[in-house]
Amino acid sequence: MRAAAARFGDAIKPLGADIWSGIKMSDAANNDAALAPSAPKKKSGGAFNRETVLEVQHYTDRLFRFRTTRDTAFRFVNGQFAMIGIEVEGKPLLRAYSMASANYEDDLEFFSIKVPDGPLTSRLQHLKVGDQVLVGRKPTGTLVQPNLLPGKRLYMFSTGTGIAPFSSIIKDPEVYDLYDKLILIHGCREVAELQYGLDIAAAARNNEFFGEIVQEKLIHYPTVTREAYVHQGRITDLIESGKLFADIGQPPLNPAEDRVMLCGSPGMLKDLVRMLEERGFREGSSGDPASYVIEKAFVET
Ligand code: A2P
Repeated sequence: MRAAAARFGDAIKPLGADIWSGIKMSDAANNDAALAPSAPKKKSGGAFNRETVLEVQHYTDRLFRFRTTRDTAFRFVNGQFAMIGIEVEGKPLLRAYSMASANYEDDLEFFSIKVPDGPLTSRLQHLKVGDQVLVGRKPTGTLVQPNLLPGKRLYMFSTGTGIAPFSSIIKDPEVYDLYDKLILIHGCREVAELQYGLDIAAAARNNEFFGEIVQEKLIHYPTVTREAYVHQGRITDLIESGKLFADIGQPPLNPAEDRVMLCGSPGMLKDLVRMLEERGFREGSSGDPASYVIEKAFVET
């Protein structure tokens, strides 16, 4: 791991994404084995890989994260999602989950809601280390750099578990090379729901290899709507009032300079898309890059 980490550090400036993922993917098999020595052997076949749960952390009665092993052939672009689930009565029960781990990490991380009567999450919340989950082999998604034109600042607006794809992106040193600032906005109802975002931002800032550039470029702005906190209010209201920009010391949203990624609740997405379009932003897609991209935070059940 040390040797791999050293190469990883060296790779930060000069090398491209393929090399990054190449380095880490080649180490993934060894580390899967090291992390889960007694894990059942992975069976691969069909549309899914069977991965073993390595870690589970509960944040609130509505939120938890889990890490799993990662098939060495499973590759993705930071910001993408895959179908994740479990087998129920012999049949796969799946929902779309963004990868919260970066594409060079040895294992996979997911950040999930818990819905008491949700078909999948009511079960998934009881995951334990050693359990198996199904991971679809075809990651996809729109929250990826090639769908955006070059810009000065990358805004990532999220609510709730919509922060998951941005967890992957704020760990991607290549993205820091593309922008002067990465601005991660996370809106939740309660302070306890911000903890995952605080943890991933702190981990990125403290990263041995690219922490310095994160400290220079990442602005993390957590805000809550139903409790007292240092930042309060809905993301949309904070944009309209200009308070967000005053607080972070940046100019108001400008399609000539800013690029935006959106992931979160349907209400927030609808309102923010309207606000962006009013300001002259245009939605980008594969083959037609523009100034913003959007993904629903899928798992609501
Ligand atoms: P609010 O508490 O005012 O509803 P949820 O947990 O329901 O997914 O919401 C996550 C966060 O998104 C909450 O802070 C919620 O604020 C906020 N939110 C919900 N709808 C919108 C919207 N249309 N625009 C901006 N923020 C929203």
